[in-house]
Amino acid sequence: MEDETAKVVSSYTYYVSETAKIGKNTEIQQGAIIEDDVVIGDHCFVGCYAVISEGSVLEDNVYVGARSLFISTKKIDHRRKYETELSGPHVGYGARIASGAILLPGVKIGKNALVGIGALVAHDVPEREIYFGIPAKKRGNVPDEECVDEPVKAKKRAAKK
Ligand SMILES: CC(C)(COP(=O)(O)OP(=O)(O)OC[C@H]1O[C@@H](n2cnc3c(N)ncnc32)[C@H](O)[C@@H]1OP(=O)(O)O)[C@@H](O)C(=O)NCCC(=O)NCCS
Repeated sequence: MEDETAKVVSSYTYYVSETAKIGKNTEIQQGAIIEDDVVIGDHCFVGCYAVISEGSVLEDNVYVGARSLFISTKKIDHRRKYETELSGPHVGYGARIASGAILLPGVKIGKNALVGIGALVAHDVPEREIYFGIPAKKRGNVPDEECVDEPVKAKKRAAKK
């Protein structure tokens, strides 16, 4: 039984800014926060309590694990007079960001890349590479069978068969 002054937020709440765009068949799980001007493509997944900060972009088929954190400003302007520059992370088609990863402002995650659990991503991650650690470094390559084809590539592959 909670104290009468307690404020209990439903466990099924999440926040999506009115200026964010969310594509079709995309799932946003409980507690996730999608800030202003975020663009999320089709068939994406944003796990519980992930924070996708202002101006971030997720292309189609992106996976973001629980409690991942996207950062979009390098400097903290709280009660300071200077302006902060906004630069949300950009996650390419089919890339996967595992739980608890932190992406620093402006980093670009290549198509089908994989960022491991708890990584701190300070630099761009090339297509199909696996990065983890603090700071995140290259640890391998995503195998073919774990990549999702973009529609154009899928068409070409089907035509070759
Ligand atoms: C990136 C990832 C795929 C690496 O898996 P892997 O290639 O099979 O790596 P291994 O488990 O063989 O580990 C190789 C080494 O890296 C270490 N390691 C693995 N993942 C690590 C991580 N995220 N951070 C730091 N070290 C890590 C291991 O301890 C091991 O070190 P050791 O050789 O000294 O013992 C995995 O860490 C991951 O993030 N998976 C995603 C899980 C997820 O988000 N699931 C969905 C939500 S439930």
